[in-house]
Amino acid sequence: MDKKPFYITTPIYYPSGDPHIGTCYTTVACDSIARYKRLQGYDVMFLTGTDEHGLKIEQKAAKEGITPKEYVDNIVAIFKKLWGFMNISYDRYIRTTDDYHIATVQKIFKELYDKGYIYKGEYKGKYCTPCESFWTDSQLDEDGRCPECHREVTQASEEAYFLKLSPFADRIEKLLTETDYLQPANRAAELVNNFIKPGLDDLCVSRTTFKWGIPVTFDEKHVVYVWVDALTNYISAMGFYNNKYDDYGKYWPADVHMVAKDIMRFHAIIWPAILMALEQPLPKHLVVHGWISYNGQKMSKSLGNVVDPFILGERYGADAIRYHILREMALGADSSFSNEIMINRINSDLANGLGNLVSRTVTMAEKYFGGTLPTEREAADVDSELIAEAEALRANVDGYMDKYQLNNALAEIFKLVSRANKYIDETEPWVLGKDPAKKARLASVLYNLLESIRIATTLLSCFMPSTMPKVWEQIGAAESDVTYENAGKFGVLPLDVTVHRGEMLFPRIDVDKEIDELNALIGANAPAEEPKTEVQPVLPQIGIEEFAKCDLRVAKVLACERVKRAKKLLCLQLDDGTGGRQVVSGIAQWYKPEDLIGKKIIVVANLKPVVLCGVESNGMICAADTPDGAASVIFPDQSLPCGSKIR
Ligand code: ME8
Ligand code: MG
Repeated sequence: MDKKPFYITTPIYYPSGDPHIGTCYTTVACDSIARYKRLQGYDVMFLTGTDEHGLKIEQKAAKEGITPKEYVDNIVAIFKKLWGFMNISYDRYIRTTDDYHIATVQKIFKELYDKGYIYKGEYKGKYCTPCESFWTDSQLDEDGRCPECHREVTQASEEAYFLKLSPFADRIEKLLTETDYLQPANRAAELVNNFIKPGLDDLCVSRTTFKWGIPVTFDEKHVVYVWVDALTNYISAMGFYNNKYDDYGKYWPADVHMVAKDIMRFHAIIWPAILMALEQPLPKHLVVHGWISYNGQKMSKSLGNVVDPFILGERYGADAIRYHILREMALGADSSFSNEIMINRINSDLANGLGNLVSRTVTMAEKYFGGTLPTEREAADVDSELIAEAEALRANVDGYMDKYQLNNALAEIFKLVSRANKYIDETEPWVLGKDPAKKARLASVLYNLLESIRIATTLLSCFMPSTMPKVWEQIGAAESDVTYENAGKFGVLPLDVTVHRGEMLFPRIDVDKEIDELNALIGANAPAEEPKTEVQPVLPQIGIEEFAKCDLRVAKVLACERVKRAKKLLCLQLDDGTGGRQVVSGIAQWYKPEDLIGKKIIVVANLKPVVLCGVESNGMICAADTPDGAASVIFPDQSLPCGSKIR
C-alpha cells in the first residue's frame, strides 16, 4: 500500500544574523510533527531553507566587503550546522538563490503579469538618498527622518510593479473565517478587521533601487521584491515550473505551513492570493505560533542577550532544549524564555521524572533478577489504572498532534511518566524484593513499568530523538517494539525481557551554580563592545524628598491599541495595583500592541492628566533612549505584583 503524503514547511529564514533559540522554535516544532507523522506511517516531506535576497543582505555584504552570495553562503553554513546539531530531520533545504527557484519565480511573475494581476505603477514614499531606500511614513524616526541614518528624506516615487489583491478579498475572507485553514482560528478576526475590511492594498512586488534579487525577465531594471520570491519557495521546492524536482503533484497542497505571528499576514492573505491568481490549490493549514522573548525582552543580537542554541545544547543536550521550548509554548500564546525556568524544567521533568523512572526501574530489575525478568506473573488491582493510562496515551497524544498542540502532547506523555513513578511508590518493589514468595508480583511490577516506559518513550522519540534510543537499549526494547502500532498496545516486550543499565540520561543540574556560569558565558558571548550613546550631563542635584514625590510603580499592560490618526501613539490600559489606568505613549514606531500586552512596565503614576490627539493620558511609561534614537521600554521582572513601588 502506498504511504499517504504529508508536506510540512517552516518559514525560510533570512540569513542576516546568527540564529537564536527563537529561530529554533518553528523548526524544532515542525521537526517533531514530521517525525510523528513518519512514525504514523506517512510519506513525509519536511522543507526548510533560507530567504537570501533583498536590500538588507546587499548592505550587510557590502559592509563586510564580500559579495552578497559569499555573505549568505557563510550564514547558511551556520544554519545547516545548527539544524544538524538540533537533530532536524528536514527532507529538503531550499535556498532562494538556487537556479531552479529563480526560474520558478520568474515564470510566476510573468504569468501573473500576463493575466493582468501584476501591473506597472508608481511606488510613492519617503526616500533617503544616501541609503537609497524608500520608507513608509510609519517607518520614519520620530523627527520624520530616515530610520537608518537619521538624515532628511524626500517625497519621491519609483516605478514599480504591483500585485492586485482586491479580486481575492472575498475568497480570502471566507478562507480565514469559514474554513480551518488558519490555526488557531481566533487570529482571523485581526486579519479581517485590520487588512481585509479596510480594503486590501495592492502589494508592491518589484524594486529598482537595489540589485540583489531575482530580475524581472521582461523589465530587467526591476528585481522581484521579497514576498513573491520568498513565498514561492513552498512550491518551487516541489518542482513547480522547474525541472529540478517532480514532487508537486505528490505533495501539493501542503498540509502545514508553520510560522510565527510576525509573518502571519503574508501567509494568510498574500500567499493564498498568489495561489488563487495562479489557479493552484491552497495549502491545507497555516499554523501560527506566538513569539518567544528572552526574560521579557525581544531576542536580538544587539541587546547582547541572544540565547545561543549551540552553547545551551552543548551543556544540556539538544533534546533538553527541544523539550523545553516545545513544552513551554502554548499554541497561540507568546512565551518568555529564561535559563532558570529551563534548568528547573530539565531537573523536574527530565532528571527527576523520566530519568529517575528509567534508572529506578532498570536498577531494580538488575538488583532483584540479575537483569532478566522471570516469566511468572502476579497481577494486582493497582496495576489496572497504570495499564489503562498507558494504553490510552497514544490516542490522547494523536488528538493533540492533530491540533498541533505540541505542549499538550508532551504534557500528556509526562502524565504517564508521573503516574509510573507514583506506581513505584504504591507497589514498593523494594519491599517485594525482600520476600522470595513475592517474586512473581515483583516481576509484574517491573514489567508494567518497563511497558509504560516503552510506550511513553516511543511517542517521545519524535520530540527528543537522540535520547530515546538510549532508553530503549536500557529497557531491552527492540526496534520492532517501539513502532507506532505497538505504542497503542500494552504487553509487547517479551516476558523475560533483559535490561541493561546505562549512563544517566539527564544529570541533575545545580541551579545556582549553573545560572552563574551561564551569565558569565552569555556575557562573554555578547558583542565585545558595549553600544555607546551620547551621554547627557547630569542634572542639578535634588533632595531625596523631591524624588519621593515621583510615584513610580510596576503596572501590567492589560490592553493596548494604536491611537487613530496618530502614528506615534499607543493607548495602553494598565493595572497599577489601584485599579485601571489609561496612558498614551509615543512608542508606536518601536512597539506593536502585541509586544506590550501582558507585560509589566514602570509607570509614573502621579503625572497630571493630559490629552494627546484627543485621548486622555494618566501617567507615563518609563523608557530608555537607545543610541539610535529609539525608545526602549523598561520591563521590570514579570513576577513583581502590580502596584509595587519603585524607590
Ligand atoms: O520573516 N519567537 O524570516 P525571519 C518565535 N524570510 N519565533 C521566532 C522568533 C522568536 N523570537 N524569532 C524567529 C522571515 N522566529 C522571512 C520568512 S517565509 C516565506 C519568509 C521564527 O528569519 C518564526 O517562525 O525573520 C518567524 O516567523 C520566523 O522565524 C521569521 O524568520
Ligand atoms: Mg523577521
